[in-house]
Amino acid sequence: MRKKKPDKWRPRRKLLTPTFHYDILKDFVEVYNRHGKTLLSKFESQAENGKYEDVFHTITLCTLDVICEAALGTSINAQKDPHSPYLDAVFRMKDMVFQRLLRPHFFSDTIFNLIGPGKEHNECVKILHEFTSKAIYARKAKVDAAGGVEALLAQETAEGRRRMAFLDLMLDMNSKGELPMEGICEEVDTFTFEGHDTTSAAMNWFLHLMGANPHIQSKVQKEIDEVLGEADRPITYEDLGRLKYLEACFKETLRLYPSVPLIARQCVEDIQVRGHTLPSGTAVVMVPSMVHKDPRYWDDPEIFNPERFISGELKHPYAYIPFSAGSRNCIGMRFAMMEEKCILAIILKSLKVKAKLRTDQMRVAAELIIRPMFGNELKFEKREFGDYTPIID
Ligand code: HEM
Repeated sequence: MRKKKPDKWRPRRKLLTPTFHYDILKDFVEVYNRHGKTLLSKFESQAENGKYEDVFHTITLCTLDVICEAALGTSINAQKDPHSPYLDAVFRMKDMVFQRLLRPHFFSDTIFNLIGPGKEHNECVKILHEFTSKAIYARKAKVDAAGGVEALLAQETAEGRRRMAFLDLMLDMNSKGELPMEGICEEVDTFTFEGHDTTSAAMNWFLHLMGANPHIQSKVQKEIDEVLGEADRPITYEDLGRLKYLEACFKETLRLYPSVPLIARQCVEDIQVRGHTLPSGTAVVMVPSMVHKDPRYWDDPEIFNPERFISGELKHPYAYIPFSAGSRNCIGMRFAMMEEKCILAIILKSLKVKAKLRTDQMRVAAELIIRPMFGNELKFEKREFGDYTPIID
């Protein structure tokens, strides 16, 4: 079997890791707040009709808005205009990639193009690439005209419209000769694809679990009231650090429903595992949801119990791997944690949630991500500061 060394990945990862430092991520809290508020307004309208509705897609549009703005610095307004050619291509593409994975005869490009949906696939790739390259090159032109990224950001700050994006940091690397323009396009596309479905799935499962466990939901709301107070104000970076119980609930959500169903690797040398040799070239697949429910490492693994992330310590450093582990783990982990905490706090500050089905009635689909197979049916009700009573049917 062919062995691949990560020659392209390693220097890129080294270059991009500082981009996800807290000092930079702080700037995105405003983006989470703004798109989180739009999502809240949608759920508030739903609360008025008092019906259960599948919210899966609604949440995905919100996480797309967040990641596209963070990556590119411009809003794609997915929540307000959900039918642009770019968005249609994003959703078609995910479906085609997954369908292709299930059909080994389509792994060959020739067969895929001849008798599979190769033509539509290539058209979608073209739409996606054209959309991101247009935004990237437009920003580069502005950077060049201002005389560099720093100068452009200073100019925008003075005009009161500074909005830093991952793209700006990468254009700065480009001007120093560290990252070619094609590299920027590749990384922006990777961030947008890795960064919206994963966060959407987790947000969906979190809201389902809140809606199915009202006593835990009210504990989260008590904490939100304590941290944010009664006033309607944006959530700050400091607030996020204080939402400890919400964070524990989110971690427990990812234990039960880790967004990424499989982590795959290829051995680049012979490895000994429990007295057996895995020869170099072997493909190895790890399944986080199985690790997360292994009774050797987790007491009552099927029970949703956020307290285990408050009091307990991990029984094994690799017993909890929703963001993978090691040098190739998720680069967006902190971004995702901050985004989730901010948007979920915005929603639960103003609304109560109830799930139509109990958790044991939910069916799980493990596709590119782990999602509720038949959607995520929730209903909402307005809540006031200090109200911790659950929704009564
Ligand atoms: C709840 C949300 C998320 C989860 C559960 C998650 C999970 C993961 C996992 C398990 C991997 C590793 C796959 C492997 O080891 O093969 C990964 C990789 C990656 N993730 Fe995330 N992710 C999340 C959010 C994000 C976000 C928001 C971004 C971007 C801002 C992002 C960007 C990436 C990138 C670029 C990689 C590839 C890293 C590399 O190969 O160096 N992820 N993610």
